[in-house]
Amino acid sequence: MDMHICKNYEDLSTKACAHVVGQIAGKENSVLGLATGGTPEGMYKNLAEQHEKGELSFQHVTTFNLDEYIGLPTYHPLSYRAYMKAHLFSKVDLSAVNTHLPDGQAADLTAECARYEALLRDAGGVDLQVLGLGHNGHIGFNEPGTPFSSTTHIVELDEKTREANARYFEKKSDVPRKAITMGIETILAAREILVLISGADKAEALREMLYREITNEFPATALQQHPNVTILADEQAAKELPGQ
Ligand code: PGA
Repeated sequence: MDMHICKNYEDLSTKACAHVVGQIAGKENSVLGLATGGTPEGMYKNLAEQHEKGELSFQHVTTFNLDEYIGLPTYHPLSYRAYMKAHLFSKVDLSAVNTHLPDGQAADLTAECARYEALLRDAGGVDLQVLGLGHNGHIGFNEPGTPFSSTTHIVELDEKTREANARYFEKKSDVPRKAITMGIETILAAREILVLISGADKAEALREMLYREITNEFPATALQQHPNVTILADEQAAKELPGQ
């Protein structure tokens, strides 16, 4: 794994943006795997600004998001479709038909998981997958205990995850209990993975991801098996690492 320690969140966001820009510069029809959450917001802001300045086009890019809540209408402001629209899709020249998220409103959710997995395969797989890291080691919504052989599936959200995401909702009981997520096998199939980790509250999780034995009790340890992972962590997130 290729580890870069960034000065602060702004620096991390600038470097994450540059990484994505480099990917698109090398392959204009890149397939990007995208993440939601607090961490990638700065990266999306920088990408939108580069587009605004005329320096970056997503015209030929296709995107697949990691996950979506089950049960929130797509127009709900806290759906991940709405997050992506607010932070990226409405600000750049991505074609709507090329932006994919699992449909958490599908009548047949099991069929939706299979559809999403097939769509990814038909697009040729993900070139660059952007990932955040959960405090409990989750990647996407793959909570502790998820088999590494998992493909896109329905999950019951961990209480810790619901607590972490409650900051966006009026009250914790409003946080959905289920979601659809790419599986760990789906994530590991990406040709390259870019992990963004910011803040002192993620320091322990980052250390575990890098140094704990590979175990599905801490899903992010699966990344140790991937041949092409870049990690951008700010100094706060890196403070528990040996030598820091
Ligand atoms: P965060 O979420 O970026 O909001 O911290 C990361 C995650 O839970 O995967």
